[in-house]
Amino acid sequence: MVILRNIDDSFLECSYSWFQDDDFLRSIDATPVTFDDQKVWFAQLNSRLDYWVKGVWFDDKWIGAVGLKRIAHNDVCKEKSAEYFGYIYPRELRRRGLGLQAYFKVEEFATNLGLQKIYLKVVEGNEAALAAYIKWGFEVDYVIEGEVNLIVMSKSNNKQHTVGKGNFL
Ligand SMILES: CC(C)(COP(=O)(O)OP(=O)(O)OC[C@H]1O[C@@H](n2cnc3c(N)ncnc32)[C@H](O)[C@@H]1OP(=O)(O)O)[C@@H](O)C(=O)NCCC(=O)NCCS
Repeated sequence: MVILRNIDDSFLECSYSWFQDDDFLRSIDATPVTFDDQKVWFAQLNSRLDYWVKGVWFDDKWIGAVGLKRIAHNDVCKEKSAEYFGYIYPRELRRRGLGLQAYFKVEEFATNLGLQKIYLKVVEGNEAALAAYIKWGFEVDYVIEGEVNLIVMSKSNNKQHTVGKGNFL
């Protein structure tokens, strides 16, 4: 069973090496970060209401991170929503249902926050993530074209799906 834990210095040290892996960075459309960049980013997290991140802990080690960004708590005109992000590292631990377990916990948190929609962006060509998100109940909304095309997917709390549980079924 995965556990979501608050990230700390040990997470930062561990994840720093993940963020030097070019294949991984391409899959999440990110660029390499320095250890100092990471520390600065970590230091400002506590003051942010629009951002929530947890480290994924399994078998006595860090194996990834999940979270929500752009959390719109009080959006009276549109749906209250947030953008999901997540990854499991290393590759050997993928496709064992760990990503789904971690994602369910994010859904639970989103439900408790009263969010009506979770959306995400996945790099076109990242077939593993696309397949996982479809299995987890997301649907493709549109594509943002750019140097790297990003597929925008979403899941509402009133959709029925066989994999999910909780309000975002
Ligand atoms: C996307 C990611 C988080 C999924 O986590 P995971 O632990 O592998 O996912 P799960 O095991 O819970 O679910 C796997 C399901 O996704 C689909 N899937 C995953 N990898 C797949 C692949 N290579 N080919 C086809 N389907 C795949 C399958 O439907 C699979 O279910 P199955 O094994 O029962 O057939 C993981 O692949 C990852 O971290 N990738 C690298 C980072 C990344 O791409 N993040 C997303 C950025 S938008």
